[in-house]
Amino acid sequence: MNLKEHIRGIQDFPKPGILFYDISPMLAHGEAWKTAIERLADAIRPHKPDLLVGIESRGFLVAAPLALALGIGFVMVRKHGKLPGDKIAHSYDLEYGTDTIEVQADAVEPGQRVVVLDDLLATGGTMAAAINLLRQVGADVRAAAFLVELTFLNGRDKLDVEAISLLSYD
Ligand code: PRP
Ligand code: MG
Repeated sequence: MNLKEHIRGIQDFPKPGILFYDISPMLAHGEAWKTAIERLADAIRPHKPDLLVGIESRGFLVAAPLALALGIGFVMVRKHGKLPGDKIAHSYDLEYGTDTIEVQADAVEPGQRVVVLDDLLATGGTMAAAINLLRQVGADVRAAAFLVELTFLNGRDKLDVEAISLLSYD
């Protein structure tokens, strides 16, 4: 199955000049979505994760079914102010301003092997920040995995772990 047939390019979103890769058609197509999750599961399995991590919000769409497919649990990295209890936060620079992500302090046991999921790798800033945050709670980050990679933005150069992507665009 050619999964790229289920990704839609939308011009000038969210800003003029940007081509947005929309995964909604893939999510809406049961067979395509199942195939995507199975292929990602096959790519992640050799890293033997104890846990998966999903990055809010579209990363959750990928991490939750993958955790079920692999028979392991998953942890949420959320935007600031969404998680209850003791948390660890990490702030990182955006093009304009900064953003903060958080994880619950007891979400990962020290030394646990994790693979971090997001729907899309663009500049790599979001994933690099999540990896930094997870290391602060003691995670052994084995890989970062994505449905889609925009290779022309060289986001994988910002990551010091293996980057796995199912579909790439240049
Ligand atoms: C998008 C996408 C990735 C991130 C990739 O998330 O889902 O998380 O941007 O960009 P980067 O590699 O340049 O950091 P967004 O912040 O738009 O939010 P959402 O997942 O909540 O829709
Ligand atoms: Mg996102």
